[in-house]
Amino acid sequence: MAVNLKGRNFLTLKDFTPDEINYLLNLAHDLKAKKRLGIKGNSMAGKNIVLLFEKTSTRTRCAFEVGAMDEGAGVTFLANSQFGKKESVEDTAKVLGRMFDGIEFRGFKQETVEDLAKYSGVPVWNGLTDLYHPTQVLADFMTMQEHTAKPLNKCKLVFVGDARNNMGNSLMIGAAKLGMDFTAVAPKELWPNEELTKEMQALGAETGATITITDDLDGVKGADAIYADVWVSMGEEDKFAERIDLLKDYQVNAELMKRTENPDVIFLHCLPSFHDLNTSIGKEVYEKFGLKEMEVTDEVFRSSCSKVFDEAENRLHTIKAVMVATIGA
Ligand code: CP
Ligand code: NVA
Repeated sequence: MAVNLKGRNFLTLKDFTPDEINYLLNLAHDLKAKKRLGIKGNSMAGKNIVLLFEKTSTRTRCAFEVGAMDEGAGVTFLANSQFGKKESVEDTAKVLGRMFDGIEFRGFKQETVEDLAKYSGVPVWNGLTDLYHPTQVLADFMTMQEHTAKPLNKCKLVFVGDARNNMGNSLMIGAAKLGMDFTAVAPKELWPNEELTKEMQALGAETGATITITDDLDGVKGADAIYADVWVSMGEEDKFAERIDLLKDYQVNAELMKRTENPDVIFLHCLPSFHDLNTSIGKEVYEKFGLKEMEVTDEVFRSSCSKVFDEAENRLHTIKAVMVATIGA
């Protein structure tokens, strides 16, 4: 059956079928190829979108802005609004829905992005919540398609680190949907929510995916891609001491990459990353805890197996695909 995503929200990959996710990935490859050739799109001409951020961003904001402008849309980045202070989510959604054709939200609660969708009457895109980061997963899978010689359903993806965070959750969901072999390697304290894991294991039984959660570093064996994220996500900045203690043995370093026994393994990271001391937080952590690198060593981050900047670029093409598919002509 032909895929039609017009008018749909993009709140979590749970809401999408494998065919729909593959459609978005194919569209993203197509849009990337067109951009490379200098072919301009205009499928969003005459449309306006608004971007709402409770948390900071570089890639997601820029991808929505450039993606929308590439397709002819107008973009409003809403800073210093009444949102959440003088005006409720419901009222804000009703106002924005009268003016805009699509709304992007990044913030804390998944409930907020769901309420924006419920009350605005226009497509709402999740640019990251505490629970999920679905647009990131599209870019990650697109990057795997570009750099691994196998189809996704033959790939083993291993997430190493804080597996109960938005990235751990969303990668597990995406992998379960697309029939991949997914392993989260994390200390027990940071395993994903049991209910979600069971749900994805059950889905995997239908799609051919396997979902494994382990605290054993040997879980990386046979990986086609090793994925890391920060040990402390946005909004949890008081947790550095606790997380360093839990995750210091789960750093992605050359030894762990070797442990995959796959010379073609690639390294992925959603970014930003603490791989050196060139950030103010990185310096603070070094002064307090003596760590020069956290979730990944500078050596791995800068190595030829690291595809993190292709992955960052792919945020643009995949986010553009989500917008074109949901509100494009
Ligand atoms: N990966 C990602 O979401 O990056 P930003 O926080 O810079 O948007
Ligand atoms: N888990 C990270 C992802 C950043 C893109 C965070 O939420 O801060």
